Amino acid sequence: MKVFIAGIDGYLGWSLARHLAGRGADISGADRFLRRAWVEEMGSGSVVPIAPMPERLDAFRSRFGRDLRFFEGDLCDYRFVRDALADVRPDAVVHLGEMPSAPYSMIDVDHCVFTHQNNVIGTLNVLYAMREACPDAHLLKLGTMGEYGTPNLDIPEGFFTVDYRGRTDTLPFPRQAGSWYHWTKVHDSNNVMFACRLWGLAATDIMQGVVFGTGLDPTEARLNTRFDIDQAFGTTINRFCAQAVIGHALTPYGSGHQRRGFLPLADSMACLTLALDHPPGEGEYRVLNQFQEVYSVTELAEKVRAVGNRKGLDVTIQPLENPRVEREDHHYNPDHQGLRDLGYEPTTDVETELGRVLDDLTDHRGEILKRQSVFVPDIRWNAARRPVSAQPVADDAMDKSR
Ligand SMILES: NC(=O)c1ccc[n+]([C@@H]2O[C@H](COP(=O)([O-])OP(=O)(O)OC[C@H]3O[C@@H](n4cnc5c(N)ncnc54)[C@H](O)[C@@H]3O)[C@@H](O)[C@H]2O)c1
Repeated sequence: MKVFIAGIDGYLGWSLARHLAGRGADISGADRFLRRAWVEEMGSGSVVPIAPMPERLDAFRSRFGRDLRFFEGDLCDYRFVRDALADVRPDAVVHLGEMPSAPYSMIDVDHCVFTHQNNVIGTLNVLYAMREACPDAHLLKLGTMGEYGTPNLDIPEGFFTVDYRGRTDTLPFPRQAGSWYHWTKVHDSNNVMFACRLWGLAATDIMQGVVFGTGLDPTEARLNTRFDIDQAFGTTINRFCAQAVIGHALTPYGSGHQRRGFLPLADSMACLTLALDHPPGEGEYRVLNQFQEVYSVTELAEKVRAVGNRKGLDVTIQPLENPRVEREDHHYNPDHQGLRDLGYEPTTDVETELGRVLDDLTDHRGEILKRQSVFVPDIRWNAARRPVSAQPVADDAMDKSR
C-alpha cells in the first residue's frame, strides 16, 4: 500500500511511518517542521533527542532498505499539496499535519487565528488536492475526542438517531469543543463529511483520545520519535511520567476529576493500521472513536505513582490551580466499538506501558531536568497571557530540521 503522511515529522507521523514501513508499506510524506518550532517557542524541546530530517531519512533507508519520499513544504500552500499527491498517487492519505495543542491555541488572538488558518485551510487543501490528484484514495484524518466535549449524555461514534416532533433522523452528534484548537477539528470534521457527500471521497475521521508513550526504536536512535513535556505540547501522561523520573511532583489541574480516553502510542499505531486495512466505501464518511480506556486525571496520576513506587521512584502528587476553563465533574461514557469490530485488541495494559515509559525516560533524566520549568502552566484560558503583538512562530520553522 502506498501511504502519504501529512505531518510526517510529528510525534504520531514519524511513529506511523516506521510502523507502516515495517509492515511493507511504501511511505511518503510532507512536513514543514512547525512542531519543532512551536515547542521551542514554549521554551522546550523534545526530551528524547530527535534527528534532523536528512538523518531520519538516512536511518529509514538503512532500516527498511528503501527510501521514504519526503516533501518539505506548507499544507496551507494548495499547489504544494496537490503536486506532492499527484507525484505519489497514494492509496491512502493520513492527515496528521495540524497544530495539535489546545493551550497553544488559547495563548492570544494570534495563536488562535494561526491555529484556525493552519488547520482548517490545510485540511481544505488536502481535500481538494485529493479530489484532483488521487480521488480514489482513502483519507484517514485525525480528529480528537475533544471535539465532543463533555455532554451529559453518552457519546456515540460520530452520529446518533434523534426523534424530534414526530420525525426521526440520524445526525452528527453535537460537538461542544473546549478550546479554539478543538473547534478547528470540529470545522475539519464538517468539511471532510461534506467532501464525502460532494465528491464521493472515502474518509475515516478518527476521534482520538490522548496518546502517551515514548516509541523508542530499540537499536537506532535516529529513528526515535519526539517526546514533549511542556504545558502546550506535552500530553498529560507524558508530562506525569517525566515529572516522576526526576522527583518533581505530578501536577494534575484542579480537582483532577476530568475524565478522558487515553491510549498508548503502540495502540494508536495499531488502530490507524486497522483503519487503513479496512477502508470505508466510496462516499462514506466513517467516524471511529479511538482510545483504550477512560480515566480521570487523578486516577492516572495515582497509576503513575504506583508504577513509579514499584520502580523505587519517590512520586508525589501536587494539584495545581486549573488554568483551563473546563468542567471538572462530568458524565463521560463514549462508545468505542468501531475499532473493536475491525479487530482492535489492546496491545498492552496501561500499567505495563507506564512502566516502559518510566524506564525509557530514565535514560533522558538530564534533558528533563534541564527543562523542568516548562511543567508550570502559565497559559490561562480566560486571560490574555501575552501582548497582542507577539506572533506565533512559523516563518523560521523550516530551518529547524536542517
Ligand atoms: N498526540 C495526541 O495525543 C493526539 C490526540 C488526539 C488527536 N491528535 C491529532 O493527531 C495529529 C498528530 O498529532 P501529533 O501529536 O503527532 O502532533 P505533531 O505536532 O507532533 O504532528 C503534526 C505535524 O504536522 C506538521 N504540520 C502542522 N501544520 C503543518 C503545515 N501547515 N504544513 C506542513 N506541516 C505541518 C508539524 O510540523 C508536525 O510535524 C494532530 O492532528 C492532532 O490533532 C493527537
